[in-house]
Amino acid sequence: MTTANIVWHETSVTKEERQRKNGYRSSCIWFTGLSGSGKSTLANALSRALFERGIQSYVLDGDNIRHGLNQGLGFSPEDRKENIRRIGEVAKLFVDSGQFALTAFISPYREDRARVRERLEPGEFIEVYVKCGLEECERRDPKGLYQKARQGKIPEFTGISSPYEAPEQPELVLETDRKSLDQCVQDLLVYLEEHDYIP
Ligand code: PPS
Repeated sequence: MTTANIVWHETSVTKEERQRKNGYRSSCIWFTGLSGSGKSTLANALSRALFERGIQSYVLDGDNIRHGLNQGLGFSPEDRKENIRRIGEVAKLFVDSGQFALTAFISPYREDRARVRERLEPGEFIEVYVKCGLEECERRDPKGLYQKARQGKIPEFTGISSPYEAPEQPELVLETDRKSLDQCVQDLLVYLEEHDYIP
């Protein structure tokens, strides 16, 4: 891979101009947590709440992205790393376009998440730990994947046969096995308001 002979072009409309016009500070809200912890549900509920306030956001979701952009990537540490790297780059483009990127990926490795944070400007990466005990995730098992993983039918399944490294200093922790969806969305909105991301 080389970037020789490739020259970066500045865009005619800058991110700062878009943010000023929009009246909010576009950023990446990075939901991380076990399968079944509620990442997609939360990201979608937040996207709806922002939309109702006239704030543009877009949800990038693990299952959907793996059907298209990241089709062909599996669940080895190397493939997960590349999965997260690409998502990080897409999220950066969304932030640049003036929108909130809401990403819902297990993203189990601290190093991979840290790399995305580094690619964004300070304050543009809001790490949200969607905290839910493995027992509860297994009980929910919305796609029946834990059952299959326990039967040895899915190799390298996060939480069962592949590690999950919880964030050490996330911007926000949402305990979805203790709080309602509405409460979690409320916590997110309060965070965004208090830190001057949204009015
Ligand atoms: S990662 O770790 O961030 O690269 O994974 P992600 O892109 O978020 O994809 C997770 C979804 O893929 C399904 N799935 C698996 N998850 C974990 N481990 C293994 N081996 C696996 N195989 C398939 C599962 O539906 C995940 O979706 P969520 O929404 O997290 O439940």
